[in-house]
Amino acid sequence: MSRLIVISNRVQAPQPGTGGGAQGGLAVALNAALAEEDGIWFGWSGDTSDNRELRFQTYGGVTSAVMDLSEQDVEEYYDGYANRTLWPLFHYRLDLTEFERDFQGGYERVNRVFGERIGPHIEPDDLVWVHDYHMIPLGWVLRQQGITNRIGFFLHIPWPPRRLLTALPDHRRLVEALFAYDVVGFQNEEWLDSFFNYVKEEMDGTVDGNNVTVGGRTICAISCPIGIEAKDFIAGAAGPVARAAQLNQLESAVGRSLIVGVDRLDYSKGLPERFAGYERFLQNHPDRRALVYLLQIAPPSRTAVQTYRDIRNNLEQMSGRINGAYADTDWVPIRYVNKGYPREVLAGIYRAARIGLVTPLRDGMNLVAKEYVAAQDPRDPGVLILSRFAGAAQQLSVGALMINPYSAEDIADGIDKALRMPRAERIDRWQAMIENVVEEDVIWWRKRFIDALSAETQ
Ligand code: UDP
Ligand code: G6P
Repeated sequence: MSRLIVISNRVQAPQPGTGGGAQGGLAVALNAALAEEDGIWFGWSGDTSDNRELRFQTYGGVTSAVMDLSEQDVEEYYDGYANRTLWPLFHYRLDLTEFERDFQGGYERVNRVFGERIGPHIEPDDLVWVHDYHMIPLGWVLRQQGITNRIGFFLHIPWPPRRLLTALPDHRRLVEALFAYDVVGFQNEEWLDSFFNYVKEEMDGTVDGNNVTVGGRTICAISCPIGIEAKDFIAGAAGPVARAAQLNQLESAVGRSLIVGVDRLDYSKGLPERFAGYERFLQNHPDRRALVYLLQIAPPSRTAVQTYRDIRNNLEQMSGRINGAYADTDWVPIRYVNKGYPREVLAGIYRAARIGLVTPLRDGMNLVAKEYVAAQDPRDPGVLILSRFAGAAQQLSVGALMINPYSAEDIADGIDKALRMPRAERIDRWQAMIENVVEEDVIWWRKRFIDALSAETQ
């Protein structure tokens, strides 16, 4: 059996002595996938130093190998090109996108160093799977070293429409790097279509089914939505840690309905719009104000980047203003919490919540939406309110209340409808969603991608 080599910026293989939950969708998904394979997970240690050696460790059945980056690398590659250029652009936020030559230089340099360090550890039969926007050129660097293995790339975030992507200086160079891979995966059909469109219009390429050809080189591009560890999550949601968190929440709710949001503090998540939508609900329904509360869990993320500090300031002001305007002596409308929780605790909080409010302006997938569904009590499930712009919409629109996150009115109406929804309808909607969450789980996702990657070359 061939080994699996996973390469991503952030490695969150199990660590001795840490009980805390992983926070990124990528990390959550890969731990489950890698524990079953004999392989290695390569990436950044998260530390800064000038030491370029890979450090290997095996723990919890997963071998990882990590490398430090210099301060300049972090500034240009991670904070810079990855999170000030590609992340906003790929989330359709041209207004927040910064273009700096140094960022691109640092991005290419770090990818080259990673590729050169990792290359010698790849054996002839290994399947190599590279993840996310930090590492787009990595496959190309491996090919430069003569590596002829099957190499796949999966993008966890959206792929932007051609007319947005062409705003990126050197956009073609970035897309050409994808042609070093054998298989390129996207979260849904919409991003895949945008990729096809770019290839046809900007590269004079052809698309035949999933085969994409440019200049004589054919790769396979697929839609392959990521899932959660559904069975474990369902079991965890009924376990002791989740149960304690659920009871704790219900006790502090004193009979009020909990509306929950759980998001990294990121402008793509539509948090100000969510607060505005909730405020509109409070305005529209004075009689029902004190019967609900919104718990927004938002652990800080990428704090070196100004746009992330701005969104944090904005939310602090908004929550302060809304609470100031509507709170009573025994009730605050928004509990805004800037720290992260282990997923077992989240599972209990999801289960206590009558509404899961997931309103990103744009999101590659959004695993929180799937976790909320998985955590519900089948006899009395809550309602998922979901943005039509989340990747998860493609799979969950069968049962979620779909809203436009830019419309406060739409969010307010969604909350109203969810609170009034009879139990029979809640059960019907939940059943439609849980079927998909269980069926298309993280193991299904991995298998789908690995099957495509293992397939004989066309
Ligand atoms: N998460 C967590 N603790 C927190 C907040 C989030 O473990 O306090 C997890 C959450 O359960 C989910 C992931 O972080 O599995 C977030 O993934 P998602 O796809 O929703 O968004 P991303 O952060 O990848 O953009
Ligand atoms: C998203 C990205 C991941 C990233 C995660 C957390 O899920 O797709 O690649 O790891 O966010 O962000 P961070 O910058 O902390 O790694």
